[in-house]
Amino acid sequence: MTERTVRTKNIGLRGIAVADTKISYIDGERGVLIYRGYRIEDLAENSTFPETAYLLFYENLPTPEQLTAFEADLRAARTLPDFVVESMQRWPRSAHPMDALQAAVPLLAMADPELFDESRPANLKKALRLTARIPAVVAAWHRIRQGLDVLPPNDTLTHAGNFLWQTFGVVPDAETARVMDICLILHADHTFNASTFACREVVSTRAHMYAGVAAGVGALSGELHGGANARVMEMLQNLVEDRVTDIQAWVRDRLERKERIMGMGHAVYKTMDPRAKILKKLAFQLGEKTGLRIWPELTEAVEKAAMAELSARGKTDIQPNVDFYSASVYHILGFPGDLMTCIFAASRIAGWCAHIIEEKYGDAQGKPALYRPQAEYVGDYCGKLDCEYIPPEKRRDAGAPA
Ligand code: COA
Repeated sequence: MTERTVRTKNIGLRGIAVADTKISYIDGERGVLIYRGYRIEDLAENSTFPETAYLLFYENLPTPEQLTAFEADLRAARTLPDFVVESMQRWPRSAHPMDALQAAVPLLAMADPELFDESRPANLKKALRLTARIPAVVAAWHRIRQGLDVLPPNDTLTHAGNFLWQTFGVVPDAETARVMDICLILHADHTFNASTFACREVVSTRAHMYAGVAAGVGALSGELHGGANARVMEMLQNLVEDRVTDIQAWVRDRLERKERIMGMGHAVYKTMDPRAKILKKLAFQLGEKTGLRIWPELTEAVEKAAMAELSARGKTDIQPNVDFYSASVYHILGFPGDLMTCIFAASRIAGWCAHIIEEKYGDAQGKPALYRPQAEYVGDYCGKLDCEYIPPEKRRDAGAPA
């Protein structure tokens, strides 16, 4: 009989470095996030999403000429191929936007003339096309599911402004477009989070970039990752609908029932997420401008009550993450809850592509390796490792797993 082997185990790979990266850095204790050497606060204040995407892809900030050329290439790439839009028009309108987005990624792959060209220049072009087209898919699906026409891009607008235009059919003012731009900068990369790891893991098999990105979209959709912003908005809307006035009691009750406060806590940050601080300011800025202060104010009330209740339970490290205030920002911008995770994807596409390129060429870690972790086999079916095969006519129903 074969013996089973017991191996060293780390549930969820917490605290395990599986690769080197030069793309971004997080100091979870101090609340620091850095993209290619630049602090997130600095980029949010001074950069734009296309410039940040360039930084992630090419390792350096562009010269003015390089940025102009990159922006022109992004504009040129953002029109979706006809067959992609025609295919989307036949999908069930009830499809969740993240499923629609994930389904669109292989279609975009089929339209890429350099799909199987694995040279670095070809992969950089794929990264640019994906960065241009993911927001176009999100906008197109939002319109198609409402029975509206898909809008052509407006080349007079910024990348973020055009995303708002193609989604809502209204040309945004410069301040609103800039808020969207900052949101895209803030979500563009975050080291080895679950979706980025999914992308890297898939391309470590030498699958193409689009295969990695489709996996990333799937991983992002979960409520413990990118899906949390939609859950935060649901939480806020329920508080309003249920006319909850005692937020502290509501939080206490939730914690006593072992339920989580969505948008709080983080696998790496043990203090407030630096992106949440910026998003909190943006949420109040937009709330002021639109008369919708209720959303950031309610979020802040939940934050204060949760911090008090959690620290009374000795948990001082569960603080607002990126999704906590982004829910209010996106809601005020007009995005429905189920589109919020797609906005995350429209930004994170830059980080995913940068990581896929790093993974493919071993930029930071030497020779790329195929990820192949192990699992400890704990199956126990017949009192020994390997059971005897029983022919169908002699089998009895063993019952389904509980
Ligand atoms: N609200 C209430 N309690 C929370 C919490 C939250 N948002 N996040 C973590 N906790 C508690 C857990 O219940 C657990 O308590 P216990 O030890 O008494 O069982 C403890 O903190 C550790 O939880 P764990 O899931 O092991 O910690 P983690 O570091 O792996 O959690 C998250 C990271 C993000 C999965 C977690 O904080 C969470 O679920 N947050 C809400 C979802 C969210 O906002 N996700 C977006 C992340 S960017």
